[in-house]
Amino acid sequence: MKTIKAQSYKELSRIAADVIAAQILGKPDSVIGLATGSTPIGTYAELADKCSRGELDFSKVTTVNLDEYVGLGGEHPQSYRCFMNRNLFERINVRPECTFVPNGCAEDLAAECRAYDARIEQLGGVDLQLLGIGIDGHIGFNEPDDHFTRETHEVTLDESTIEANSRFFASPSDVPRTALTMGMGAIMGARRILMVVNGKNKEEILRRALQGPITPRVPASILQLHPDVTVVYSEE
Ligand code: F6R
Repeated sequence: MKTIKAQSYKELSRIAADVIAAQILGKPDSVIGLATGSTPIGTYAELADKCSRGELDFSKVTTVNLDEYVGLGGEHPQSYRCFMNRNLFERINVRPECTFVPNGCAEDLAAECRAYDARIEQLGGVDLQLLGIGIDGHIGFNEPDDHFTRETHEVTLDESTIEANSRFFASPSDVPRTALTMGMGAIMGARRILMVVNGKNKEEILRRALQGPITPRVPASILQLHPDVTVVYSEE
């Protein structure tokens, strides 16, 4: 595991964007796993800038997102599909049909989860997976549990996650209670993992994830078993 301490959020975003850009330059048809949340926003802005300067070409890239709220359609401003369109996809030359986000409004959510895993497999797996970490140690929406779940699945969000994510909604009661998330199989199957972590309040959970026991109670601790993880963090 490689950890890089950035001096600022701006620097964290630049470093993370450089890692993703290097992946795409080396393999233009890369499958990139993407995350939402506030931490990657700066990374996405840097990637969009690189693309508009002609330094980076997303035309052969495929993206697969980690998760989506159940019940929010792609047009809902707080859906992760809408977040991705706004913060990245509309600002780069990726082909919209090559951007995948779980459909949280699917009639049959279990079938949607199975189809999502089949899609990732058919793409040959993820080349580089971008992750954030929740204050409870979640990655994607894999919340603390008594076991790790391999497949894409529906999860009930923890109170701390609802509380943390309520900043994007009018009130905590508007935050969906469940979500679809990629499971640990697809995440751990990614050839490379890049985790971005920002803020003093993430310091303790990051320490537990990287140095504590490997346990589903701290889902991100599973990353200790992955051979190629880079963590970029800033205290800003
Ligand atoms: C979102 C996701 C989550 C976030 C995590 C941290 O797609 O996968 O695991 O990465 O909740 O969110 P922020 O960056 O807002 O602190």
